[in-house]
This record gives sequence, C-alpha cells and structure tokens, in this order.
Amino acid sequence: MAVRVHSSLMTLLILTMFCFASTMGQSDNYIIHMDLSSMPKAFSDHHSWFLATVSSLVQSPNPKVRAKATITPTSSKLIYSYTYVMQGFSASLSPSELEALKNSPGYISSMKDLPGKVDTTHSTQFLGLNSNSGAWPTSDYGKDVIVGLVDTGVWPESPSFNDDGMTTIPSKWKGECEVGIQFNASMCNKKLIGARFFNKALVAKNPNITISLNSSRDTEGHGTHTSTTAAGNYVVDASYFGYAPGTASGVAPLARVAMYKALWDEGRYAADVLAAIDQAIIDGVDVLSLSLGFDGVPLYEDPIAIATYAAIERGIFVSLSAGNEGPFLQTLHNGIPWAITVAAGEIDRDFGGTVTLGDGVSIAGSTLFPGNPSLSKSPIVFVGACNNTVELKKLSPSDIVVCEDKRGTVSNQIQNVRGANVAGGLFIVNSSYPYFFIFTSFPIIFLSPADGDTIKAYIKNSSKPTASIQFRKTFIGSKPAPSLADYSSRGPSPSCPVVLKPDILAPGTLILAGWPQNIPVAVVDSHKLFNNFNLLSGTSMACPHIAGVAALLRGVHPEWSPAAIRSAMMTTSYTRDSTNSPIKDIGNDYKPASPIGMGAGHVDPNKALDPGLIYDVMPQDYVNLMCAMNYTSKQIQMVTRSSSYNCSNPSLDLNYPSFIAFFSSNSSDSPTVQEFYRTVTNVGAGGSTYTAEVNPMEGFKVSVVPDKLTFKVKYEKLSYKLTIEGPKQMKQTVVSGSLSWMDDGGKYVVKSPIVATSLSSKPLTPKA
Ligand SMILES: *[C@@H]1O[C@H](CO)[C@@H](O)[C@H](O)[C@H]1NC(C)=O
Ligand SMILES: *[C@@H]1O[C@H](CO)[C@@H](O)[C@H](O)[C@H]1NC(C)=O
Ligand SMILES: *[C@@H]1O[C@H](CO)[C@@H](O)[C@H](O)[C@H]1NC(C)=O
Ligand SMILES: *[C@@H]1O[C@H](CO)[C@@H](O)[C@H](O)[C@H]1NC(C)=O
Ligand SMILES: *[C@@H]1O[C@H](CO)[C@@H](O)[C@H](O)[C@H]1NC(C)=O
Ligand SMILES: *[C@@H]1O[C@H](CO)[C@@H](O)[C@H](O)[C@H]1NC(C)=O
Ligand SMILES: *[C@@H]1O[C@H](CO)[C@@H](O)[C@H](O)[C@H]1NC(C)=O
Ligand SMILES: *[C@@H]1O[C@H](CO)[C@@H](O)[C@H](O)[C@H]1NC(C)=O
Ligand SMILES: *[C@@H]1O[C@H](CO)[C@@H](O)[C@H](O)[C@H]1NC(C)=O
Repeated sequence: MAVRVHSSLMTLLILTMFCFASTMGQSDNYIIHMDLSSMPKAFSDHHSWFLATVSSLVQSPNPKVRAKATITPTSSKLIYSYTYVMQGFSASLSPSELEALKNSPGYISSMKDLPGKVDTTHSTQFLGLNSNSGAWPTSDYGKDVIVGLVDTGVWPESPSFNDDGMTTIPSKWKGECEVGIQFNASMCNKKLIGARFFNKALVAKNPNITISLNSSRDTEGHGTHTSTTAAGNYVVDASYFGYAPGTASGVAPLARVAMYKALWDEGRYAADVLAAIDQAIIDGVDVLSLSLGFDGVPLYEDPIAIATYAAIERGIFVSLSAGNEGPFLQTLHNGIPWAITVAAGEIDRDFGGTVTLGDGVSIAGSTLFPGNPSLSKSPIVFVGACNNTVELKKLSPSDIVVCEDKRGTVSNQIQNVRGANVAGGLFIVNSSYPYFFIFTSFPIIFLSPADGDTIKAYIKNSSKPTASIQFRKTFIGSKPAPSLADYSSRGPSPSCPVVLKPDILAPGTLILAGWPQNIPVAVVDSHKLFNNFNLLSGTSMACPHIAGVAALLRGVHPEWSPAAIRSAMMTTSYTRDSTNSPIKDIGNDYKPASPIGMGAGHVDPNKALDPGLIYDVMPQDYVNLMCAMNYTSKQIQMVTRSSSYNCSNPSLDLNYPSFIAFFSSNSSDSPTVQEFYRTVTNVGAGGSTYTAEVNPMEGFKVSVVPDKLTFKVKYEKLSYKLTIEGPKQMKQTVVSGSLSWMDDGGKYVVKSPIVATSLSSKPLTPKA
C-alpha cells in the first residue's frame, strides 16, 4: 500500500509543478474523526489510509482561476495522523477541501483546531512554594514511574533534572530525546528520560511563523516548573533570592520525567496537544500531567477529554488543572469524568521581611523583594493615603514611607511611592490583597492593620521615628492553612455537571520549582535577575503535585486503576485546616470552602497509600454516562474511538467518590428525591466492617442503605444506596455535606463530599 500512496503523491507533486502557488488562502486546521472500520482492506494501516484520503482532496477549481488548478502538495495538508488518542488525523484544509472530505468513506466528524490555555495566574511572577517538606513519602516512592507532561518544554540543565541516585531507565520505555535547536540527545539522562516537540499544527496555521527555538527547550519557564514540581530531583540550597530556602524536590523525587512540548510562545493548538498525548501513550508513560485546558467545549470536542480517554483505557493516570477563572462558579475546565481535576490552594508558608522600629519593636510583613537583603536605619514617615504625588516627591531619599488606604487602591499607592524618590514603603493592607504585589522590584513590605496601628502609634509618639528592614524572611506555619485560592476555577463542570468537579485541592500558590537559567525572574533597578528556581501560582502548579502523588501511589500499587488512584486520593483528603476549622475559601470572604471549589479536600499522600475502600470505575461506566447524557453514538465514538461500547446501560450515576444532586430553584414539579448507587472495593487487609456517617446538610435529608458494610476478604465489593431528599424549591445555590464510611478498627475514614445545588445540570452543547 505504501506504493500506492506513493504514486498518488507523485501524481500530485507532478501536478503541482504545473500549478502556481496556492490561491486558496482560507485554509484552516481541522481535527477529523474517521471510522476505522470503514478502512478499505487495501490499506495496510490507518496512517496510509489517512494520507491517501487527504491526498484525494483535490480542490474544486476556483472560477476565477479556472485555468490553473490550485493544489498544494497534499502531504503538507496532513498535519498529524493519530494512533491512540483518536481514530483520525489533523489537516490544513480549505473550505472546499473540508466539504470534499465530508463525502470521503469513513468520515465521522471534524472540528476546527482550538487554542489552548495554560493555567498560571495573571503573570509568571506569582510566587509559591515547594510542598515537599518532609511529610511526603521519601526516595523509593516514584522510582521507575514515568511522569509525562505536555507543556512548554524543559530546561534540561536545571539542577532539578540531575540524575543522582537514579537507577537505569525502565526497559518498557520507548521514548526519545529528540534532537532540535539547542537540544541534543545527550541532554536527557536517567531523570529526564524523554523530550519531544510538536508544532506542525502551529506551523500549518501560520506558514510564515518563526519558531524562536524549534526544540523541546523551554523558552517560557512553565514546563520546567511543572515538570520539576511533579518529579524534580533533590537540589540543596535552592531558594528564590533567599526566600523559601532549603532542599527543593519534586513530589516524586525518583520518578522519571518525559516532556512533550506542544505549547509554544507562538501559539498553542489542540492538534499539537493531541499528537503530544498520542506520543506519550506510545512511549509508555504511567502518569500524565496536563496544566492546560480548553474552555467551553463538550467532552466529545474537548481534545483533552478525547486524548485522555485513550490514556486511562491503558491504565495511565491523568492529572488536569481546573483553571484560573475563580472564584466564579461554573468556570472550571477539564471537568472530565475519567481524569482528576485539581484545584489550587495556599499552604502554611509566607514570604516577607521584618521591620524593626527605633524603639526595638519588630514587626513581620509580606514581601518578595529580591534586591538588597536589608535597608538600614532610616527616618520613617506616615503619609496616609499616599495619593498626593507632589507631597511624596518632597520627601527625602532616605525616608521610609508608611501608606494606608482604606479604599483598597494599593496599586496606585505603590505606583506613587515608586515614583517618589524614597528609600522604601510600608503598606498597611487587609489580608486579601492581590498576591502579585509582593513580587516587587522596589523595597516594600505589606503589613496587617493591627501592625499598622503599632507603627502609627510609634511614629506619633516619637520625635525622630526610625525603622530598619530585613528582607528575605520565610515564615513557616502561618495559620490557617491550607486555604482555597481565589483564582482556582469552580464547578460544576460545564461539560459534565453530573460529576462533581474539581476533585481535589493541592498546593498551587507560591510554588518554588525549577526555572530556565536564561529567563529573568525579577528586575531590580533595571537589572534582570536570573535564578534556577522561581515562585509561581496557579492551578498549573497544583496539577503536577497530584501527578507526583499519583506516581508515588502507582509505585506502591501498580495494580490499581487510574480511578482507584483517584479514589484513594479523594476519600483520604482532609477538609479541616491547621486551626481545625473548615478549610477557608479566600475567594469567598474566608468562608468555609465548598466542594464546588476544592473538591473532596486537600490531598494527603501518606493517607492515600492506604485508603481502606476504593470506588473503581471501568471504561464502560464512562460510556454509560455519556449515553445517559444523550450523546449520539457518533459523539461517543469521537471519545471512545471504538464501536465495541454500547448504550445498553445508560446511567448518569457514575461510581464516583463524590455526589452532586440538582434541585430546582423554582417550586416546580421536579423531583425532590435523588438516589445514588455506589460500589466500594475493600483494599484494606482482610475482613472489616464499615459504618456510614453522614455530615448533615441544612434543609436536606440524606440516608444511606445499608449503613453497615461487612467485608470478609480483600478485594470484595459491596454496594449501597445514598438518598438525598430536598425541598421543592431550593433557595441556596450550593449546600454541602459529606458521607464517611468508618471501619470498626478505627483505622479508616473513607470520606465523600455531597453537594446539592440549584445550578443547572444541563451540560453545554457545541458552539453553533
Ligand atoms: C550536546 O550538546 C552539548 C552542549 O552543547 C555538547 O557538550 C555535547 O557534546 C553535545 N552532544 C552531542 C552528542 O552532540
Ligand atoms: C508568507 O510569505 C510569503 C513569501 O514571503 C508571502 O508571499 C505570503 O504572503 C506570506 N503569507 C502570510 C500569511 O503572511
Ligand atoms: C523543526 O525541526 C524539525 C525536526 O528537527 C523539522 O522537521 C521542522 O521542519 C522544524 N520546524 C521549523 C518550523 O523550523
Ligand atoms: C487622597 O485620599 C483622601 C482620603 O482617602 C482624600 O480625602 C483626598 O481627597 C485624596 N487626595 C487626592 C489628591 O486624591
Ligand atoms: C480593612 O477592612 C475593614 C473591614 O472591611 C475596614 O474597616 C478597614 O478600613 C480596612 N483597612 C484597610 C487598611 O484597608
Ligand atoms: C505613646 O504614648 C501614649 C501616651 O500618649 C502611650 O500610652 C503609649 O504607650 C505610647 N506608645 C508608644 C509606642 O510609645
Ligand atoms: C436525555 O433525554 C431524555 C429523553 O428525552 C431526557 O428525559 C433526559 O433528561 C435527557 N438527559 C440529559 C442529561 O439531558
Ligand atoms: C452491549 O454491551 C454489553 C456489555 O458489554 C454486552 O453484554 C451486550 O451484548 C452489548 N449489546 C450489544 C447490542 O452489542
Ligand atoms: C419556573 O417554572 C415555570 C414552570 O415550569 C417556568 O415557566 C418558569 O420559567 C420557571 N422559572 C424559573 C425562574 O426558572
């Protein structure tokens, strides 16, 4: 068959020689689903069939240029032919070629390529911290587990990619270290075991584009950060200019990293992302971490949903970022039932400095000023709102100014103080000020109103008030922690509301991880500052934490399915903070965080190793869900690629470790009782009895039948029914509670969140 394809290609090339350059203009990139069962027997494989299909799309002549047939070499129309992620290919097609393709045998559907979105908040200059501080299982965990990331590439020289202590690469690994610009095969090692890059769709879309670095090398920093967060090796004396000092490491320090670069400074396209995930599956990764997403698409048009279904069918665990569109409800992306969707939280570390007043009193505040570590004893002046620039400019260059603005215009204050020629600034602010202000290139510190009062009183009383400042302080153990970050996107999932999303909370704010040596992390006095580590915030940073935990769990329980690993993390997560109060939502006035924002709770890797019971899910269960969502068989096939699944058992009630019930906000005749059926598998040792305990929900009656489950042996499965009875008219938007199964030995608590909501249960439909 190769010969036949070849000859048709030859014909086209010859034709092309008689033609002038393309006059088609309107070509665009499409992702095309094909039915492999329609492949003519003559083709040896799907690649040659796809190529021949695309080659046959001779554009119907444009009336104005009828004399010259306009054909470009069709081999360049085919961008990627996919193997696992979907049955189909991507191609650059003109409108008439697309029409012609629709009449080709085996054509199912097509969609325009989509731009993707990286999940780091606002700027790359947010700050966060490495959460691998002691509590995580050590060295052996994660060994030989391969974490694949689709991201912006890697900086292979990052010290986090050192392979000290790493054993030989697992023999199952089929990946490669692809040669490219400033990247050769010897840049991989026993830690960074693979690096490949995908930009054919980007180039097809923008034929004249210059790719700044055509290789797996990271020119942006995001991929170096996420990959070292998941599985970076130990690096001693890591810090961000003295902040967050210590030994840095990824969550699974001995796991392997494989980078699939599909996100480019120049653009990010679904067709490239699909190719990257396809290759990761072929290469043999165990865990996929994807800190990117596509907004506003139903599951069957979401490239991540489509590609990750193929991954989970092969036992690959998939961690996805929820997005940074919080705190607004229904903003989440990647609400995909077969993956884990990760929300971002803050942990118990703050970065800052201390202000020492002339009377010896010392006060701590927040800052990440990377310049001089200290500001010596200087006069200190209280200026109030700091809104009078003329007055500010009259101050002495040695003065430290104190600003307080009760109306929350701290950004203007900072700007005014920067514009005045003074030594530094102290800003009295309420706790919920935007984090990026602490990435300052000028010596400033943010103080609480209480500490502000102390300083104001001291200035008032003193004839010659002075202060000195020490920067580069890291405060561990700040309370309460964790909390849900305001930017973390909230559910319910627009694409699949009936499965509660996000699933879990992980550290996302101010995360310290690896960074390219040649990309500045800060600027002080117009000098660029460089560092091997950077502090970033976003659900992009939370997602690789969960990928790292999954690598640890995979190492311990190689027999667990992706759904079992997810269940173990969710049911053992915790919902109380360090003050033993419910975890708070920074985006909702520090009120208790809802599962709509944080999922089941904050991940606890040590507990997840031994969850007692798991909620397992088989691929057919996801199909049953899509059937009940009324997807057409064509739409289901776009996800499953296979017609071997059928809709004989539709059910919206997935065997998931969480519950979401929809009630009407309208006193209509909609049902007020909702039932959920669940089956749990005993993964604890031997026999045990579990008893159900429901954390009640105001205005709702929740019951569990049976409320006792007695397991005789390991791997035994038992089922129960949970019933939620609600009011005819639900007044609140979201009410939550939980169900815990407690074993009589007192060892296990298997907890699931329960949400009742008056939001819509209708999944979004494709854009017209
Ligand atoms: C790869 O690049 C490095 C750094 O430029 C160089 O030292 C090394 O010799 C190269 N290796 C190969 C195999 O080309
Ligand atoms: C690309 O470059 C070619 C040759 O330089 C030019 O003719 C063409 O108009 C350019 N196309 C675009 C889309 O800029
Ligand atoms: C990038 O490199 C690959 C192989 O190294 C090559 O095939 C491709 O044409 C290059 N792309 C661009 C845009 O330079
Ligand atoms: C500065 O703010 C204060 C109070 O916040 C206000 O009374 C005053 O008018 C403002 N001055 C200027 C110059 O905007
Ligand atoms: C902080 O918030 C409280 C309550 O909203 C307000 O009374 C106070 O003025 C604020 N303080 C500052 C410094 O903005
Ligand atoms: C300031 O003076 C008041 C009395 O005027 C006194 O109560 C207070 O302790 C003094 N505070 C400081 C910081 O010296
Ligand atoms: C699917 O269609 C059935 C029959 O029309 C309808 O009752 C049901 O509500 C639909 N399900 C969803 C999730 O839209
Ligand atoms: C549908 O799938 C079920 C379970 O996989 C199987 O038992 C049944 O025979 C299938 N039905 C059809 C019509 O293919
Ligand atoms: C409430 O239900 C009635 C009847 O089903 C419908 O006409 C009305 O639009 C609904 N109101 C709201 C706010 O959904």
